[in-house]
Amino acid sequence: MNHKQLYIETFGCQMNVNDSERIVTMLSDLGYRVTTEAAGADMILLNTCSVRGGAEEKVYKRLANLRPLKKARQSLIMGVGGCVAQQEGEALLQKFPWLDLVFGTHNLHLLADMVRGAENGERRCETSFIDNEQRLDLFPPVKGTSRLSSFVTVMQGCDNFCSYCIVPYVRGREISRRSADILAEVRELADSGVQEVVLLGQNVNSYGLKAEGEPSFARLIRQVAAIDGIRRIRFTTSHPKDMSDDLIACFGDVPKLCGQIHLPVQSGSDAVLKRMNRGYTRAGYLERIRALKAVRPGIAITGDMIVGFPGESEADFQQTVSLVEEVRYSDLFFFVYSPRPGTKAADLAEELTRDQKVQRLERLLDVQKRITREIGDSFLGTVQPVLVEGEGKRPGQVSGRMDSGRIVNFIGEPGLIGSFVDIRIVRAYQNSLLGELHNH
Ligand code: SAH
Ligand code: SF4
Ligand code: F3S
Repeated sequence: MNHKQLYIETFGCQMNVNDSERIVTMLSDLGYRVTTEAAGADMILLNTCSVRGGAEEKVYKRLANLRPLKKARQSLIMGVGGCVAQQEGEALLQKFPWLDLVFGTHNLHLLADMVRGAENGERRCETSFIDNEQRLDLFPPVKGTSRLSSFVTVMQGCDNFCSYCIVPYVRGREISRRSADILAEVRELADSGVQEVVLLGQNVNSYGLKAEGEPSFARLIRQVAAIDGIRRIRFTTSHPKDMSDDLIACFGDVPKLCGQIHLPVQSGSDAVLKRMNRGYTRAGYLERIRALKAVRPGIAITGDMIVGFPGESEADFQQTVSLVEEVRYSDLFFFVYSPRPGTKAADLAEELTRDQKVQRLERLLDVQKRITREIGDSFLGTVQPVLVEGEGKRPGQVSGRMDSGRIVNFIGEPGLIGSFVDIRIVRAYQNSLLGELHNH
């Protein structure tokens, strides 16, 4: 068969990355193979993110600069999927006449049919949400991964409605996949050589809570850990309010579960957390952090922080800074608050200027940079087990990750890829460590 070329660009979170893998798998049945060059492709898809205004703008800019490719070749199929597609729907087809396909976050299963139509000149938009009952059968598998580490979606959607967040509107209601389906997928991955799974969801730790007969997330982790061949388990993202004692206990007694957790707090001020509708307090969050550190000393904690939420005073901001000092995140992602259409917070008056928000962001960044550096330095001279995952940054180097997720580069043979080795850490950089093989 003559292969057609598919160019796909993915924006946003890991869920979109996993959806893109699903899309590639589905379209390979129609004869499409992935290319890394947009120019010359037979189909261009953008899998988009709408979480902040900037992410949405990026998609429109990209669409504008891809237009000449369509002008040059009318048979080129151009499509937009993901969260901006869900949010804007038909309006995208109107705004961008060179666009052929718009598919929402619940409509991946229609894509093959839409593409066949587009090959015959049809323009089509599908963004209807699907009932949870029907959705359970609509997680087409990802095939052909030959990697060591794979994403496995365990749940999708969100019912939390944090007041600033568009995700519940663009991803729809929370749904937990059947544990039997998840475990079958993990077994298949393990059989194909995958050693690490990253369990994915907008809010993984509420897995199973609303699904009759399904295990809790903590139990699911134990079931995944029982699968031969899987050596490491990670998960993302968790919500602090659903961080159960059971799940925390897993960090103490499931050795395959990596000592790493992404637990976004968003703010250190109770007043702001309340207006964000987060469902926990500063003290409650810090108590969960202490519990995690008690069962797994040295656990790497990462998080997200929103700076400049409407009404955030200097005192509120100080609370955020002091929380960051107390938690000692190994890494932290900061976002300037961005009002999103249809969310509750979009109606709140904003008092801070863009400059003031950016200034706060920079102050916080400085604090975190120092902490990240100090944590990096604390590994100097220690010996760490590293799972070697691929080629390193420099020639002759390979690269892998510590249990905590930190990247380590070291001089070594490509033959080491796929195995665990002991590495002595000799240098710490902001985003990675340099090491050397121990006992060599
Ligand atoms: N489901 C995940 C992450 C959702 S989006 C969770 O609940 O943790 C990823 C991050 O983007 C959020 O944690 C938050 O810090 C940030 N974010 C979401 N909406 C935002 C907005 N309107 N403005 C700025 N940052 C936002
Ligand atoms: Fe958004 Fe809150 Fe849901 Fe996370 S938990 S996706 S921040 S609404
Ligand atoms: Fe963005 Fe959608 Fe993920 S809005 S963060 S791609 S769920």
